[in-house]
Amino acid sequence: MIGDRTIELYSIDSTNAYLKRNYKNFPSETVVIAKKQTEGYGRRGNNWVSNYGGLWYSVLFKPLKRPMNPWHYVRIFSLAIYDTLEKYNIKSKIKWPNDILVDEKKICGIASEGIIKGKKPEAIIVGIGMNVNNEIPNDLKNVAISLNELINREVKIDKLLYEINHRAYNSYYIKYLKDKSVSIITKKWLERLNISKGDTVNIKFSDTIETAKILDITPDYVLVSDNNDNEKKLYAGDISIKK
Ligand code: BTN
Repeated sequence: MIGDRTIELYSIDSTNAYLKRNYKNFPSETVVIAKKQTEGYGRRGNNWVSNYGGLWYSVLFKPLKRPMNPWHYVRIFSLAIYDTLEKYNIKSKIKWPNDILVDEKKICGIASEGIIKGKKPEAIIVGIGMNVNNEIPNDLKNVAISLNELINREVKIDKLLYEINHRAYNSYYIKYLKDKSVSIITKKWLERLNISKGDTVNIKFSDTIETAKILDITPDYVLVSDNNDNEKKLYAGDISIKK
């Protein structure tokens, strides 16, 4: 089970970076959790503010017989977090490709990294950052929200960690992450996304924002048509989409 081996740290640069340095020493499904991170990072190397009170952790996967595509692992946790929030009576959306939004604000971000040796990943590290009891900095209050704010009480981090990992493992990892049935994970993930076909969205590239219409959403890319009716395939690594 995810977290059978758990390393609890008070402060670390980043739990993802810690596992990248030490993954050889730990078994698959090891969890590293820290009370705060000094150099937490997200997708595209963005700084991830990780003050005391949040849920900041990473999970190591070194499976022998499961697909090794980092995106599948992100989706497993996206779905587990979606389900866990539902148990707290919170309706969330999965922001393509890897955030969890409540009321259009980010409550959780998920970043996965593959450690490639030769041609295939030797390990996958999934980093989960969830705003729980931490104070959201003023300059982020219009884009981020915490669980505490939503339910008006402190949440026990250990309990939440267990709930998410338990669901990720039992409802998705051992059940569906097999070569033939990954499609069930993808299907559920597609159903819970914040965007759908026909939506007009803003696409943020590294230094420009463009408006476009979504023509299709596939497991690997979003197909859009821009203002000049040019079709483009957008891949998760490069962009962020906002409605
Ligand atoms: C994103 O939204 O881009 C993903 C953010 C992921 C943040 C988590 S916090 C725990 C782990 N350690 C890190 O440095 N990053 C991830």
